Amino acid sequence: MCGIIGYIGKREAAPLLLNGLKRLEYRGYDSAGMAVLNGQMQVLKQKGSVGNLEELLNVSGTVMLGATMGIAHTRWATHGDPSDRNAHPHMNISSDIALIHNGIIENYSSLKKELLSQGYEFESDTDSEVLVHLIDRVWKADPSIGLEGAVRQALRHVDGAYGICVVSSREPDKIVVARKGSPLVIGLGDGEFFIASDAAPIVEHTNKVVYLLDGEMAVVTRDNYTVKTIENVEQQKRVTELDFSLEKIEKGGYEHFMLKEIFEQPEVMRDVMRGRIRVEEGRVQLGGIEDYLDRLKQAKRIVICACGTSWHAGLIGEYLIEEFARIPVEVDYASEFRYRNPIVTSDDVVIVISQSGETADTLAALRLAKEKGALVMGICNVVGSTIARETLCGMYTHAGPEVGVASTKAFTAQVIVLFMLAMALSKGRTISQEEIKLNLRELAEVPEKVARILEQNDAIREIALKLKDARNALYLGRGYNFPVALEGALKLKEISYIHAEGYPAAEMKHGPIALIDEDMPVIVIATRDNTYAKILSNIEEVRSRKGRVIAIASEGDRDIEQLTPDVIFIPQASAALLPLLTVIPLQLLSYHVATMRGCNVDRPRNLAKSVTVE
Ligand code: AGP
Ligand code: GLU
Repeated sequence: MCGIIGYIGKREAAPLLLNGLKRLEYRGYDSAGMAVLNGQMQVLKQKGSVGNLEELLNVSGTVMLGATMGIAHTRWATHGDPSDRNAHPHMNISSDIALIHNGIIENYSSLKKELLSQGYEFESDTDSEVLVHLIDRVWKADPSIGLEGAVRQALRHVDGAYGICVVSSREPDKIVVARKGSPLVIGLGDGEFFIASDAAPIVEHTNKVVYLLDGEMAVVTRDNYTVKTIENVEQQKRVTELDFSLEKIEKGGYEHFMLKEIFEQPEVMRDVMRGRIRVEEGRVQLGGIEDYLDRLKQAKRIVICACGTSWHAGLIGEYLIEEFARIPVEVDYASEFRYRNPIVTSDDVVIVISQSGETADTLAALRLAKEKGALVMGICNVVGSTIARETLCGMYTHAGPEVGVASTKAFTAQVIVLFMLAMALSKGRTISQEEIKLNLRELAEVPEKVARILEQNDAIREIALKLKDARNALYLGRGYNFPVALEGALKLKEISYIHAEGYPAAEMKHGPIALIDEDMPVIVIATRDNTYAKILSNIEEVRSRKGRVIAIASEGDRDIEQLTPDVIFIPQASAALLPLLTVIPLQLLSYHVATMRGCNVDRPRNLAKSVTVE
């Protein structure tokens, strides 16, 4: 969950590490810390954001001068509260080994008991600290094994997930790293190396990277790096060239990453489709699944597993694939799927959807599905992420790095990928070539329609004023817009901390209607599709209980203005493409409400961008 950056080379390490941490802050921001070596081990760490660490460095950073190697961490606490003493790096008793860790050591409590009984003292409540003492213990027991051997042996005692970087003043010219379950990547510079939990802090220095796999360790010095398995078997690694630039991960003039990412959507949508659809020929070409398309079409059933926003995209995928390709689809929360002994056979296709490609529950669901013999396919945004690498086939969403914790552009990119997939699965089977052409033409028009909705940003901000003091909100939608109602509610709650629920509109009368009074805003997606008449009745039901309605409606709908003054109009589209349009005003509404309430939209409390723990 946390962010990790390491550096070894010729430059001053501390400012470089600090800069790297700033690029990683979206991964965790409970505390930040770093350890550098300049003859001695120097450690600074502090509760709170990277900004706090920067202040500390300004005051006492001179001790770090002259260091040309070090490691740094931004934390998302799992064990022990966010505090100075729980911040990473953690040190052994003699303060000559420092470690940063991303993940969870599951057997930490028994290891801690054992170490305590052997006289080890603990400075923090974290699970991570046991690892540094373990390394110390095995190294003391056999000094000839060196830092690398000590890390290797210590890891044999550990259950759980980790991405770690370890340095020691006893062997001052190397960084030892290892991964199991938490991502790590090595950046190859000129006479210098970088280690990070993702490429964001590396791209400004080099575009050449090596991804570590689960169960691999690396020793990185100023001159080279070697990768071995934890069992000490040397590995040949492929160097990957990254093709995203730094500008892409900076705010690009917007006040927040989230706003930037919302506004990027027309362009992102074009990128997602680029080279994949030929409207006039009615062709969908999905390189990543081409070789498996026949098997995918023969699936007896498709199971989609994901979490959060990606799960909402999965629900839309269910509607799309069932409507067009007529293959039965089930959508499961990855966390439920993995623990309920699901029935999965080799006739099934399991699709995992994940923006980060690192979500622990989704990864576990994928591994379980694989074990059971299903064909596993991935839809991921982060290139080279663990999920992307472990699936047999798949498609990248190509939405670019998403920094805002609230997922926006990744969601619409996922829905477009699912739409194209539905077309590919239907082709030659369930719908005519003419229909495919028509659908693709409509899909190609979506980015422009989204741009038109974004032009209404000011009007949407006005409507947000009416929502900003609410304590609860209800989101209603039907058909394809039901998952959008769920997504709208999730966006509002995660960044503005207003409690919100999404419901299929017709379900309101089976419970939530009891909540409705003059203080309850109800956001209704009431576009002109086959459920329109029904949803108007739902609006009447809300109005007659004095509920305040904010409607998302189709351009040209005069009737809806009779029912509520707060309407956001969106261009017309066929039902299957509506989610790509109706979600846009909901993203903007949440954004404005959150900023009006003074919330940190890009880094909402208690959340992290990529949930790599259970
Ligand atoms: C989205 O706004 C949330 N922050 C969260 O629900 C997210 O979608 C979920 O954690 C899944 O992440 P993934 O797509 O990276 O797997
Ligand atoms: N489990 C460790 C802790 O709570 C690491 C968490 C993280 O990945 O940031 O400190």
